[in-house]
Amino acid sequence: MNDDIEKAVGVLRAGGLVALPTETVYGLGANAEDPAAVGRIFAVKGRPPTHPLIVHIADGEQLGDWVEEVPETARVLAEAFWPGPLTLVLRRGRRVPLEATGGLETVAVRVPDHPVALALLSAFGGGVTAPSANRFGSVSPTTAHHVHAELGDAVDFVLDGGSCEVGVESTIVDLTSGVPSILRPGGVTAEDIEAALGYAPAAPSAAPVRVPGQHPSHYAPRARVVLVEPEKVVAEAELAQERGHQVGVLLPAAFADAPVKAHAVVAVPASTAAYARELYGLLRAFDQRGCDLIIASLPVEEGLGAAIANRLRRAAGPRPSDADPATPGA
Ligand code: TXA
Ligand code: MG
Repeated sequence: MNDDIEKAVGVLRAGGLVALPTETVYGLGANAEDPAAVGRIFAVKGRPPTHPLIVHIADGEQLGDWVEEVPETARVLAEAFWPGPLTLVLRRGRRVPLEATGGLETVAVRVPDHPVALALLSAFGGGVTAPSANRFGSVSPTTAHHVHAELGDAVDFVLDGGSCEVGVESTIVDLTSGVPSILRPGGVTAEDIEAALGYAPAAPSAAPVRVPGQHPSHYAPRARVVLVEPEKVVAEAELAQERGHQVGVLLPAAFADAPVKAHAVVAVPASTAAYARELYGLLRAFDQRGCDLIIASLPVEEGLGAAIANRLRRAAGPRPSDADPATPGA
């Protein structure tokens, strides 16, 4: 066993926290069966303890150890997409403590597609609960450097597995009611899931509010994000810059060559795969360059574009600090 993996396993066994690379984003991992260690995840992230975590396992064959029963749809989806960026929500098995599920009788499980994560999970032998390794509400880390910047010494050990290939979180599919429904669009597309199932899953709107990714201001950089139509990005950016903002611009590919008078200008990567991979890094870079406003537009919501659009909308959503005139006293 590689030294780093051995060290990480020791940390998990001792009740510590290990940041681990996955193909989607970096996770902040703890032994899923150690309620105290799981509790530390919530403390470090500043995440409300009622928000459930994902249990990561080494192999789809182990799914039955963590859930009450494995329905046929779970078998089909696991077979089609694991290891990979798909999370299945099923009835909780007794092995999963309520601390890891935020008190829910259901549990989210996935097999990540990253050699370092898989080496850790196999060597550890158990399940590792891991949310994204960022502070609650902020942008997920896609490099080990981002994890250090977000969490510093609060994490006991960081496994460096390079940059995450997919770049946005896993797709979450709820299999606990009659029809499989997508709770969060992510690395596996709705089109892929439909092809595997032979019918279309239900849309994300059925999501319960307690899924943190559903909070309006999730996945947000420090800079405020404003979404406009693609053809208005340049004009809006220049106007805001003239008004004294330090504007970061995510320039739609069709306008990539347009000269823009703004603080920081980045052309959106041409393929949706590259855009997904780089999205969080780009948002972080705008913060680092001192932008206080980011002007962007939504990509076409097909394939991975749906996950990118979902994250951009959340990043642009109202912040907890915002006064909300629509709900006085809320
Ligand atoms: O790609 C990913 O999924 C990454 C990597 C590290 O695996 N993890 C991740 O974890 O994004 P986190 O905690 O940031 O987001 C997990 C999502 C949350 O929105 C949570 O509410 C939802 O999964 N979730 C977990 N358990 C659930 C359950 N029993 N029912 C419904 N949603 C659940
Ligand atoms: Mg997260």
